[in-house]
Amino acid sequence: MTRRPLVGGNWKMHLLRADAEAYCERLRGESAALPADVALFPSAPLLALVARGLAGTPFACGGQDLHPEEKGAHTGDVSGPQLADAGCEWVLCGHSERRQDHGESDELIGRKAVAARRHGLKPLICIGETLDERRSGTTYEVLDRQLEAGLAGRPEPCAIAYEPIWAIGTGETATPEIAQEAHQHIRETLADLIGAEAAGSKRILYGGSVKPANAAELFSQPDIDGFLVGGASLDPEGFLAIIRSCG
Ligand code: 13P
Repeated sequence: MTRRPLVGGNWKMHLLRADAEAYCERLRGESAALPADVALFPSAPLLALVARGLAGTPFACGGQDLHPEEKGAHTGDVSGPQLADAGCEWVLCGHSERRQDHGESDELIGRKAVAARRHGLKPLICIGETLDERRSGTTYEVLDRQLEAGLAGRPEPCAIAYEPIWAIGTGETATPEIAQEAHQHIRETLADLIGAEAAGSKRILYGGSVKPANAAELFSQPDIDGFLVGGASLDPEGFLAIIRSCG
């Protein structure tokens, strides 16, 4: 089963317009063929600028979150139609920082993924365990629960990002073996939920302190199909190096 790699750059709450403009200009100058599908996830005020800046390039753009309703009185939220209108192709659903900072439940994340598809967006559903959950041996239970709720019975289209919370922004990457073991487990659970063939074609990304120096070894694992990169995606050179390591 060949799966085209996918690499996301999650800028989180970083960068200003001038930075984003310079970043897009650097990517527009990148003429080499990419070995992966690539999407940038800027924060909402930068989305339209980045989508415009990357128009006509192989680099796509996505939102970091969406509200499950298509419009209404939801101050501070962004809707699926607004993301699509800004030029997004993807949207993150259930990033651990949304789960932790905003108390997002598994059920809400499933509704967000369903809403994303309704508006022509591809959800990148994020799952991952805390350090306590890993230490207490409940990692797979947590991943299975988050995965089933996130898919909400509707697996297409979507991609999955496995981001162990203990590895996010800590510099402590999961070893390739730990990441592979979790990815293999996720694919097995996917096979139970959506069938072996669909599970075999589903892209499962790894996220958590990915850098140019560790990306190739992680990518060499059979069930790692790309990355969701935080800190290292803020520098276009580092991000491009990570993308190239998927070749
Ligand atoms: P870091 O790459 O900064 O650890 O962040 C990972 C992440 O949360 C991407 O969504």
